[in-house]
Amino acid sequence: MPAQRLDLRVFPDPKRLSQAVAAAFSATACEKASLGKRFSVALTGGRTPRLLYQELATDFRAQVPWTHTHFFWSDERYVPPNHPDSNQRLARESFLDHVPIPPENIHAPLTHLEYPEEAAVLYEKAMKEFFSTGEPGFDWVLLGLGEDGHIASLFPGSPTLDAGGRWVVFVDGSPKPPPQRLTMTLAGINRAACVHFLVTGTGKKDALRASLEGAPDPRRFPAHGVRPENGTVTWWTDASAAAGLSEAFAGTPS
Ligand code: 6PG
Repeated sequence: MPAQRLDLRVFPDPKRLSQAVAAAFSATACEKASLGKRFSVALTGGRTPRLLYQELATDFRAQVPWTHTHFFWSDERYVPPNHPDSNQRLARESFLDHVPIPPENIHAPLTHLEYPEEAAVLYEKAMKEFFSTGEPGFDWVLLGLGEDGHIASLFPGSPTLDAGGRWVVFVDGSPKPPPQRLTMTLAGINRAACVHFLVTGTGKKDALRASLEGAPDPRRFPAHGVRPENGTVTWWTDASAAAGLSEAFAGTPS
């Protein structure tokens, strides 16, 4: 990814990174609300967003216009919503259950249907209906980065990387447990206004370097396929994850 177009922000630690992301989140939400518009967000799964979610439930709770804010998920494990592996459970326990957001503003996928492919179709339908009257896609899509370079539940070499016009697909046999998931596709992600990657820890050093510095190869590094048609990509990283980046990509410490 050419360095000159890269928006890479490096923070000393995950806490300060999460505070900065929460501040940007709140500012965008307020801006949208001041225009009488919804603020639509696709939440990421995994452990990295936990600190951000806690920030939203505490220091930023009173600042975010929750009635204007709507949450979907960029991916979800195909497990019951109260399952320990559920991304929805993580978000509810760490912030959604602790902020005054109308329940109808939380758009979680169904993960109990006998046929998960049907759940993927229904979730895509819900997204398309949500965006049928306004923006083409999410204001914010939050994504993590796996140590193998996966994003959402789009894994290197997976056929889901060539999902055509689908916005949401079912993944069976995920290399990262649990095996069954629903995930947004690159087509769905690339309709966003802003994609925000949250990447922390030394374990992500190699994947971050390859995702930022490698020759474009979306099948090997799905992050290379994140190129919003009319949007931006911001990488929020801590010093540990960014330690492997070459000088040209090292970003400006924040
Ligand atoms: C998931 C996630 C996945 C995650 C990365 C990073 O449902 O597993 O969406 O893409 O973001 O694997 O996970 P950590 O934040 O736990 O390192």
